[in-house]
Amino acid sequence: MPATVVIGTQWGDEGKGKIVDILAADVDIVVRFHGGNNAGHTVVVKGEKTILNLIPAGVLHPGRICMMGPGLVIDPEVLTGEINTLRARGYLASDAWLRISEQAHLIMPYHRAIDRARERLRGAGKIGTTGRGIGPAYEDKMARTGIRVGDLFDETGFREALGRSVREKNGYLQAILGEAPLSFDDIYASYTGYRDLLRPFVSDTGAELRAALATGGRVLLEGAHGTMLDVDHGTYPFVTSSSVVAGAAAAGAGLPPHAIGRVIGIAKAYTTRVGGGPFPTELTDALGERLRADGDEYGSTTGRPRRCGWFDAVVVRQAVVLSGVDSLALTKLDVLTGIDPLRVCVAYELGGRRLVSPPTTGTAWERLTPVYEDLPGWREPLSRARALGDLPVNARRYVERLVALVGARVALLSIGAQREQTIRLD
Ligand code: IMP
Repeated sequence: MPATVVIGTQWGDEGKGKIVDILAADVDIVVRFHGGNNAGHTVVVKGEKTILNLIPAGVLHPGRICMMGPGLVIDPEVLTGEINTLRARGYLASDAWLRISEQAHLIMPYHRAIDRARERLRGAGKIGTTGRGIGPAYEDKMARTGIRVGDLFDETGFREALGRSVREKNGYLQAILGEAPLSFDDIYASYTGYRDLLRPFVSDTGAELRAALATGGRVLLEGAHGTMLDVDHGTYPFVTSSSVVAGAAAAGAGLPPHAIGRVIGIAKAYTTRVGGGPFPTELTDALGERLRADGDEYGSTTGRPRRCGWFDAVVVRQAVVLSGVDSLALTKLDVLTGIDPLRVCVAYELGGRRLVSPPTTGTAWERLTPVYEDLPGWREPLSRARALGDLPVNARRYVERLVALVGARVALLSIGAQREQTIRLD
């Protein structure tokens, strides 16, 4: 059975954690294929809130195999912390339920130091990264100087590679960024400690995944971030450092493209983004603050307040087209209760021209203005609805209009953080 990919269709934080958690009930393996602990998923099960940064959200279903594929950059300090937290809560009872690719790259302390120092030096023009070392780790991967998870198990090779890297990075940190140097001995000691903790989980995940698919295993590929943060297709340079579109899932997990049979996009019923960069439908007024408060729009990874705004159909339509989204999960519709009218961005205007797809240059992004359509709102709370027919007529009309604008049907509708606050339309 071909694999399903789940991707974010906006700027991240679309509520993927809850949706992956629901979809994970029907699969055997959940795989993350890119990014690192810049991602953050909040999942609420039986009133208990769990925040996951690295381990796939499927981990809250005992028996699911959670894989971290070759496309990831992994901070072992964060990963071992997450494993310990999950174990303390009774999850991950078996080592066999977590598989970590030998080919994934390691985030090192100098990656974090470089990320943060560069952001400080950028001042007002900063990207607003999560400061987790993601970009610098991917730089080393592409420069072919990175250290991979599997390298930890080659005692001599690891020592040599780390020595070379620490020398080079300390030179850069001190001479260019004006930072203090890092200690080789400290990094070596902590990383050999992580190596021993991670040993039971490390494997050739790509081979295991291909074998599982060949014998009928049901696989879900869990995207992190959102399409507009994609390094090629997003609002460059205000993006993350990996490819987040569905096309990247095969490479990042170690599968051939035809192994993927279905793509599910997650879209929030309005728009948010954290960090800097263009956001045409942003609301900087009291309404934006209301969305932030009602939607609890604070980063699950960094706690930063998210910028909030109207639903942008141009962005979601682009994500649908780029990733071949078959169906959407629309989240947080309940947050819009009481706002009337509701505005939806249907196109952009740039220099007297109407754009129905996003521009491809940073200057165009800065200059465009959104074209809105107004829709009537509703007053009734939605959180107890369990079928489409339970929703107020204007909420249904809002969803129908979004579907028509973005070109993909809605299969799941989320109206609260709990698993049961979900309407299945398929
Ligand atoms: P980085 O991925 O830490 O380098 O950050 C680059 C940009 O992507 C920043 O604007 C971050 O706020 C944003 N970003 C990265 N991961 C996420 C995510 O999971 N949700 C929302 N924004 C993210």
